[in-house]
Amino acid sequence: MIILGIETSCDDTCVSVIEASGVLQQPRFKVLSNIISSQIKTHAPFGGVMPSLASREHAKNIAPVLKRTLRQSKTKLDNINLIAATTHPGLLPALIIGVESAKTLAWAKNKPIIGVNHLHGHIIANLLPNPKQKTEHKKIKFPAIGLIVSGGHTELVLIKSLNNIKIIGQTRDDAAGECFDKVGRLLGLPYPGGPRVARLAEKGDPDKFNLPRPMINSENLDFSFSGLKTAVLYLIQDLKNQKLQLPIADICASFQKAAVETLVFKTVAAAKKYNAKIVLLGGGVSANKSLRKAINDNIKNLNNVDFLMPPMPYTLDNAAMIAAAGYTKWLGLTLSQKKKADWKNIRAGT
Ligand code: KG4
Ligand code: ZN
Repeated sequence: MIILGIETSCDDTCVSVIEASGVLQQPRFKVLSNIISSQIKTHAPFGGVMPSLASREHAKNIAPVLKRTLRQSKTKLDNINLIAATTHPGLLPALIIGVESAKTLAWAKNKPIIGVNHLHGHIIANLLPNPKQKTEHKKIKFPAIGLIVSGGHTELVLIKSLNNIKIIGQTRDDAAGECFDKVGRLLGLPYPGGPRVARLAEKGDPDKFNLPRPMINSENLDFSFSGLKTAVLYLIQDLKNQKLQLPIADICASFQKAAVETLVFKTVAAAKKYNAKIVLLGGGVSANKSLRKAINDNIKNLNNVDFLMPPMPYTLDNAAMIAAAGYTKWLGLTLSQKKKADWKNIRAGT
C-alpha cells in the first residue's frame, strides 16, 4: 500500500510517501520520501511558536513540499492508496492547513483519507527503518510501554496493540521538551532551546548542581517539570546575585541529568508494573543522546525487556510516522468504516 502522510500540527510542514505492508501485529515500512520544511527562522524572534504565523507558513509551504515529496518518491497522486493527516493534538490553525489540504487531495483524486493522532505517530516512528538500512525490519512485542516526550506532551502509554494505546501517566504541568526550551530561554539561548541545552550539556559537569527530580517518590506514573524549571531559575538568580559568571554548560548538564533521570525512573517503573516486553521512545526529546543512552542502559538491566527507539530522522515531527500510523489505523478498520473514510468525515482538532 502506498500512503501519503501530511503533518502540520506545530511548526514543521511535513509530507511523506511510504510503502507499507504486513499485518497489524508486525507491519513493515519503507520510506520513499520524507520532506520537512522547518519554520524555526519565523518563530525564533518570538522565542516560541506563534500559531497564526505557523498557519500562514504552512499555507505557503504545503504545495511546494507536496510537489517535492512526490517527485523524490517518484510517485504520482493517482498511485497513492491512502492519505493520512494529523488531526490532533496540536495548534488548531496549523492543523487545519494540513487536514484541509489532505481533504482536497482526497476529494479531487477520490482517495480514502484517515485522521491520525500525532502522538500515535511518534510511537509508530519506532518501527520505521533506519534510512541507512532501507530494508530494516523492526519487531514489536506486546504489551509495550511507550515514553512520549515532545514540546507539548510528556506521556507514558501502555500499548496492547498498535491500535490500542492508553495513557498511564502524564505531566501535570510543563512537557519535558517545553522544560528544555524554557531552561534554554533562561540561559539566553535562541529558540528552540532543547537541542542547544543538550549540546552544551555534553561539555558540562552533570554533578555540579543538585537539582530536584520531581515526583520521583510519588506512587503514580505522572510527571511534573515546572518545579525543575523554577529550580533552574532560582539557581541562575542566585549565581547572578553573587556576581558569578554563569557556568552555562554545567547548568545545562545538571538540568539534563535531573530531567533524564526522572524520565527513566518512571519509564522503568511502568515497564515493571505492566510486565512490558518492550519499551519504545518517541517525540522530539527522544533525539536527546543522553536520554537514549540512559533508557537503553536501564532497560538492559531488566529481564526479558527489549528497547526500541526511532531512528534520528524520525524523532522530531515528520510525516513518515503519520503515514505509518495511518496504515496501522487503516488495518484496524472494518469494511464499513473503510467505506466511510472519505474527505467528508475528517476534521482538524478531533
Ligand atoms: O515532537 P516535536 O518535534 O514537536 C512536538 O510535537 O512538540 O518535539 C519538539 C521538542 C522541542 O521542545 C525541542 O526543544 C525538543 O523536542 N528537542 C530536544 C532535543 N531535540 C529536540 N530536547 C532535548 N534534547 C534534544 N536533543
Ligand atoms: Zn511531535
